[in-house]
Amino acid sequence: MNINMNELYYTALKAADAAYAPYSRFRVGAALLGKDGTVFTGCNVENRSYGLTICAERTAVVSAVSRGCRSFIALAIATPDSADPVGPCGACRQVLSEFMEGTAPVRFAGSGPGKVDSTIGELYPHDSLHDLAGGIG
Ligand code: THU
Repeated sequence: MNINMNELYYTALKAADAAYAPYSRFRVGAALLGKDGTVFTGCNVENRSYGLTICAERTAVVSAVSRGCRSFIALAIATPDSADPVGPCGACRQVLSEFMEGTAPVRFAGSGPGKVDSTIGELYPHDSLHDLAGGIG
């Protein structure tokens, strides 16, 4: 499938509009491209018990899996409140690796001109518990 990372990034940017981030004032949007071409989005959802905050990337994963999609071929992340690109946190890298191949492209960018084009494998090498992967498919 032809993957349009520009389009996926703009979908992530739009998804950041829905961010619930009254504590950090740092909005994040994520867009996951499913194997069948469906795009699933997520935003960060904070809580006044700060540690319960859910990142945009995991929101997107949970949304997709709950709608029956368990395989993603690309990810884009938008952080409009930072000039520089912000990559996914460690917890999200682990969760994303459950449903993505190491070769899957990842783009992230902030409001400035810089952008990072990477892959899940680059972001999360030596995948933790890789030998247990497979789950229920
Ligand atoms: N955040 C994400 O949603 N994704 C990331 O990759 C980094 C951090 C959120 C969590 C919190 O709501 C805010 O950004 C500041 O850390």
